[in-house]
Amino acid sequence: MREADLKYKKLVLVCTNDRENGKECCSQKGSVDLHQKLKQAVKAVDLQVRVSRTGCLGNCLSGASVVIMPDDIWLGEVTEDDIDEIIQLITS
Ligand code: FES
Repeated sequence: MREADLKYKKLVLVCTNDRENGKECCSQKGSVDLHQKLKQAVKAVDLQVRVSRTGCLGNCLSGASVVIMPDDIWLGEVTEDDIDEIIQLITS
């Protein structure tokens, strides 16, 4: 093992999990498109931020779920309408 030589200052995780048997989950609430659009928005402002898809964050009933690290900001009920506010959170 070695320490990774990463260039990112922040990591934004967007849950795109799809639960079995139609159980409520983030993918049902548009999180796959949310991830793509948030990634594009971050890239457009040239932030040193990695936006990655992730599995379940344990907040399925209040998805779509997003986490901003290392700021330890946990968000629920996130939609594409929140992208500008997320950019502000990342840059503040
Ligand atoms: S499915 Fe997204 S938090 Fe569980």
